[in-house]
Amino acid sequence: MYRTHTCGCLRAEHVHQQVTLAGWVQKVRNLGAMTFIDLRDRYGITQIVVEEHSPAEVRETAARLGREWVIRVTGTVIERESKNAKMPTGDIEVTASAITVLNEAQTPPFTIEENSDGGDDLRMKYRYLDLRRPPLQRNMMLRHKMAQEIRRFLSDEGFLEIETPYLVGSTPEGARDFVVPSRMNPNQFYALPQSPQTLKQLLMVAGYDRYFQIVRCFRDEDLRADRQPEFTQIDCEMSFVEQEDIIGVFERWAKHMFRTVLGIEFGEPFRRMPWIEAMEKYGSDKPDLRFGMEFADLTDLAKGHGFSIFDDAEYITGFAATGCATYTRKQIDALTEYVKRPQVGAKGLIWIRLDADGTVKSSVDKFFAPAEVRALAERCGAQTGDMVFVLCGPKFKTLTQLCALRLEVAQQLGLRDPQKFAPLWVVDFPMFEWDDETQRWYAMHHPFTSPKPEDVPYLTSDPGRVRANAYDFVCNGTEIGGGSIRIHDAKLQAQIFDCLGFTPERAQEQFGFLMNAFKFGAPPHGGLAFGFDRLCSLFGGSESIRDYIAFPKNNAGRDVMLDAPSCIDRAQLDELYLELRKPEA
Ligand code: AMO
Repeated sequence: MYRTHTCGCLRAEHVHQQVTLAGWVQKVRNLGAMTFIDLRDRYGITQIVVEEHSPAEVRETAARLGREWVIRVTGTVIERESKNAKMPTGDIEVTASAITVLNEAQTPPFTIEENSDGGDDLRMKYRYLDLRRPPLQRNMMLRHKMAQEIRRFLSDEGFLEIETPYLVGSTPEGARDFVVPSRMNPNQFYALPQSPQTLKQLLMVAGYDRYFQIVRCFRDEDLRADRQPEFTQIDCEMSFVEQEDIIGVFERWAKHMFRTVLGIEFGEPFRRMPWIEAMEKYGSDKPDLRFGMEFADLTDLAKGHGFSIFDDAEYITGFAATGCATYTRKQIDALTEYVKRPQVGAKGLIWIRLDADGTVKSSVDKFFAPAEVRALAERCGAQTGDMVFVLCGPKFKTLTQLCALRLEVAQQLGLRDPQKFAPLWVVDFPMFEWDDETQRWYAMHHPFTSPKPEDVPYLTSDPGRVRANAYDFVCNGTEIGGGSIRIHDAKLQAQIFDCLGFTPERAQEQFGFLMNAFKFGAPPHGGLAFGFDRLCSLFGGSESIRDYIAFPKNNAGRDVMLDAPSCIDRAQLDELYLELRKPEA
């Protein structure tokens, strides 16, 4: 046997046993008469001792060891004189009777410890070394455990795990495709799936009425902390269901995950919030409900006082920042700068302060009587000691800007506690969103989402008013999952394509395979997909999904370890009938 135990499992009960361990040298401390070696594998660290009376070759080998060398140690487990309560193996150590060097190692570019001293780029370049560190090991183990629980739950509920292809045609999630040239079909390209959306709908036509897949998806879009160009979905679809059935199953699933992985019990049903309420109260379709500070519509109260910025605005809204009346001028200026950053885009920030002495002060005192300012603050639910922040402008733009401020203030107040979880379902999404630039409607979810039956009459007269049978699962300000009831009626589907500006020919060209399949008996169906990486980072308490992906891309979409993407040689290009063009400056 290569090793008898791992480096994490020896305890007092193993004392006097002869053992063989293998692993990496974390640290060597040479104290003259004695040498201590911390031997590490993914299970833990065991202290190895080499003593004055140890065999000469053991002492010689110990003297040569460097960090991250791979060794095998045979020895006897003994009780430690000075125990280390912080280490699970801290009651024992192993006196070495033999040490074999399995492989020497260069000095690593950063220390392989709980907190590494390597910068982001360096750690990405040497990801296999970064992955040796306990925080990433914990993340990988969490991800594994979650994958097992997902499979267990869904399989017990009768879902079949079915794989769908990666070399497909364009899929309709609204991002850019990654494409793959086909050698056997010159000048033709596959597109990697942005999601298995159309394929899972075809599985419903095929009668597999409960499907799931833990599946890689590919989207060429701008990257953020919670976005990777390739990411993993827990993709699900069901037949003969309505929205309530799907939310029912997946709320039980989410509770199962919270219970089995984190030991958190949610007794009550998750909150449901219509999209418009989420927007008006929190300025976001993924509201962070770990704290309050809800928005109030101040438009009627604030207009008509001769303050032209308010008078000219479509919408005026604000919220009470709890206990922030003590904010200094400097702090307010910093928040003003924050909302004026191009990423937020507000023109300025108005504040109202409810001081502890009962007085009210504001940045618009010139235009409002004290009672009028107080009325604005009260509309926001402000109490003595609070500070109200107000923004104005076009309605949804202003709400989104105020959302950024609410989250920033919450961050400063320490209200975004990663150990606290506030899940909810956002429902009743609009079917379409208007894009000013291209002057057309886009599907807010995707073009197969069904409208609410009662809103179908507005499809032609007032598309903006049509609500979708769509729902998102949101937690702590992140969209973890989303889905919808699909259209299974060819006529309605044609009408939706028409609203989205597809000619019948283009619709046929792009989605004909699905519409044709629907002619062969499509059951009513619907589903959803969760972002697995996001779920892992939520459960792990981190902002960045990269920490939960073994080999992620950096913000420029590069794998710096593999140095991909990269050029391919002429022969390969020729085989694919490809000519390259230099990008224009
Ligand atoms: P949607 O586009 O909302 O829906 O995606 C579902 C979930 O996938 C996660 N997600 C991402 N995670 C990391 N990086 C990305 N670039 C990324 N993009 C999305 C999010 C999101 O909630 N086919 C539909 C689902 C359905 O209708 O059944 C779909 O893909 O957590």
